[in-house]
Amino acid sequence: MNVQRVATGIAELDSLLEGGYPKGHGMLVSGPPGAGKTILATHFLHQSCKDGKKCMLMLTHVNVESFLEQAENIGFDFRRCLENGTLLITKSFEVRTNKIQNASRLGSGIGFVEKDCVENVQEIPDDIEVVVIDNLDMLSLYHNVEEFADKFFTINDLLSTKRCTSLFLIGQEESGIKHSIAEHIAFGSLMLYTNRDERTGKGIRQLYIPKMRCTNISLEPVSFRITPSGIKIENIFQRDEILKDALESAV
Ligand SMILES: Nc1ncnc2c1ncn2[C@@H]1O[C@H](COP(=O)(O)OP(=O)(O)OP(=O)(O)O)[C@@H](O)[C@H]1O
Ligand SMILES: [Mg+2]
Repeated sequence: MNVQRVATGIAELDSLLEGGYPKGHGMLVSGPPGAGKTILATHFLHQSCKDGKKCMLMLTHVNVESFLEQAENIGFDFRRCLENGTLLITKSFEVRTNKIQNASRLGSGIGFVEKDCVENVQEIPDDIEVVVIDNLDMLSLYHNVEEFADKFFTINDLLSTKRCTSLFLIGQEESGIKHSIAEHIAFGSLMLYTNRDERTGKGIRQLYIPKMRCTNISLEPVSFRITPSGIKIENIFQRDEILKDALESAV
């Protein structure tokens, strides 16, 4: 059975993934702060809303306004999607900060404030087709390795059973055990990071896809820029072009 694809909202990324993210599966998107994880997910949400898919965004570490502000800044206006219910955003960030304020006022610890992420996922309405969790850092921070593995496995399983195509963003533990476990559990893994261009010495943003089940991936990192209209992937075929040039000049 062929895996169906869901457009990522970035044409060049679709071509790297044989048409898009594998439908009904969960992908891990990792990278340090500012790497572009939320913007990558914003492209996906915007494209999915445009295609008439019902989407859910679970924000754990920024408030809704802050997300909408950055989206608008790169040309994505979600107001109509929010009004007509194509995009639902859970406010777990606001719930958490309110609880933290109350807890500190009462002088109690704040360990209890995390509403269980699994519970949030269980409550996702059945007609949702696309889910973005931005991000898993709180889950990772508040749980030991075994608990994190159990919870992430359950979240991924619940969403796959609902046939949701999902992005799980993670910023911490890049090279740690929890990241490896999440990468192992997820259907695919995309890594965003900054690097140094050997020729120019300048910093560059890169995207690397180490894993995507059912997909012929190249394992070649690609460079990208974040512009006022979002992510622009460059140099996908750079290696092929260099090889072609070398072959042509050898003839
Ligand atoms: N309009 C813009 N033009 C150019 N670059 C931009 C623009 N808007 C955002 N950026 C870049 O995108 C970065 C933020 O990207 P994003 O929010 O997706 O990162 P992130 O990986 O989600 O970070 P975090 O882990 O902090 O949530 C900014 O640090 C900035 O460099
Ligand atoms: Mg982010």
